[in-house]
Amino acid sequence: MTDSLTVRDNRTGAEYEIPITDGTIKAADLGQIKLNDDEPGLATYDPGFVNTASCRSAITFIDGDKGILEYRGYPIEQLAEKSNFLEVAYLIVHGDLPSKEQYDAWVHEITYHTFVHENVKGFMEGFRYDAHPMGMLMASVGALSTFYPESSKIADPDNRHIQIVRMIAKMPTLGAWAFRHAQGKPYVYPDNELSYAENFLSMLFKMSETKYAADPRIAKALDVLFILHADHEQNCSTNAVRSVGSSQVDPYSAVAAGIGALYGPLHGGANEAVLKMLRRIGTVENIPAFIEGVKNGEERLMGFGHRVYKNFDPRAKIIKKACDDVFEVTGVNPLLAVAKELEKIALEDEYFIKRKLYPNVDFYSGLIYEALEFPPEMFTVLFAIGRTPGWLAQWLELTQDKEQKIARPKQIYTGDRGLTFVPAEERWA
Ligand code: CMC
Repeated sequence: MTDSLTVRDNRTGAEYEIPITDGTIKAADLGQIKLNDDEPGLATYDPGFVNTASCRSAITFIDGDKGILEYRGYPIEQLAEKSNFLEVAYLIVHGDLPSKEQYDAWVHEITYHTFVHENVKGFMEGFRYDAHPMGMLMASVGALSTFYPESSKIADPDNRHIQIVRMIAKMPTLGAWAFRHAQGKPYVYPDNELSYAENFLSMLFKMSETKYAADPRIAKALDVLFILHADHEQNCSTNAVRSVGSSQVDPYSAVAAGIGALYGPLHGGANEAVLKMLRRIGTVENIPAFIEGVKNGEERLMGFGHRVYKNFDPRAKIIKKACDDVFEVTGVNPLLAVAKELEKIALEDEYFIKRKLYPNVDFYSGLIYEALEFPPEMFTVLFAIGRTPGWLAQWLELTQDKEQKIARPKQIYTGDRGLTFVPAEERWA
């Protein structure tokens, strides 16, 4: 067996031998296939990158057909059950599990960097009272590059490390302040005696008490949610981070681009859209009419379907369990009944079976977030906090990958050519 592809160009009769490596051919190898030397070579057309690998990566493995998700080789189920978010963040960023000393140093570093410059607070206060927290988060993370101008020295490993620590540490502070802003409540400073999730809950919900004590079951559920969101290989926002990062800009600007991508309703914004959809459906009786609308193409069943998972989303299974833990503390969310019935009907319906549409991570996470009294606008912020180590690990990998170049796809030009410009005063005469 030869690891190559023989391509015959039926336009010219010419044959080409193209090497196959790791189940892929190099798109650039197709460039030699030409009608004549004046023509550009053959290219691939792949809107949405549905069958194009853009990098080599050793961070996250997904087998969408089997419902497998692994970070650095460790199954998500084991990490969610036995690890914690900061240990998983270490694993994702560094590639290995930490020793006791490495873990303690990492937790100390992250905890030590949770505060932000007072001027950040100042400009966050300048947002309108009803500003979407994702817009605030995106702007504030982008602005951090101006507080750390040395972050542009991306070839320096120590410099890269400190920016990674800062971003993982400060993301909950910025997210919590965006939340407090919308509520008109004073921003709460980090409490460095608390764990990552507890400190976040404290910055969100603390009022006049001297110390905020989160229910440990809630803190644990939030920590698990962060783990589930920590990385997901080349998704839309990670691709945005890598694409912007490929220009060699600082990591704050690259991650701000990722936050923008995550904001969209087809990506991280889906959990917000799920909750709005469940509220709109309201009761179990309204489900059949809603499903008909989805099948007629009038709307989408948000929280269903995935580009990669075509069997089940392993994160959705773990989230269902976290739902039970949270509802034990908060009481059951009445929309859970609508969600469960919707899932049952959809999983039995030919339309969804044929298209392999199953609940994804966002289907149940919104219910947990609502039970924790987050407004829907905050849901994607929680996703962003969890995804930050993944974005940064992918960015780190990019900066050290000699094969990478600035991202610059081709296009198929469909517009006019060679028109003669007529000045406005002549055209409008
Ligand atoms: N409801 C109804 N029909 C759907 C849905 C849905 N949620 N998702 C896909 N389809 C249909 C789609 O209309 C198409 O049907 P047809 O073949 O008849 O044209 C078929 O299934 C294939 O869909 P697609 O849009 O080509 O698939 P994609 O891989 O481009 O899109 C997706 C993946 C996640 C964007 C899409 O399934 C979707 O829009 N889901 C709802 C939004 C959502 O829940 N997003 C969160 C994704 S998980 C978290 C994350 O990673 O961000």
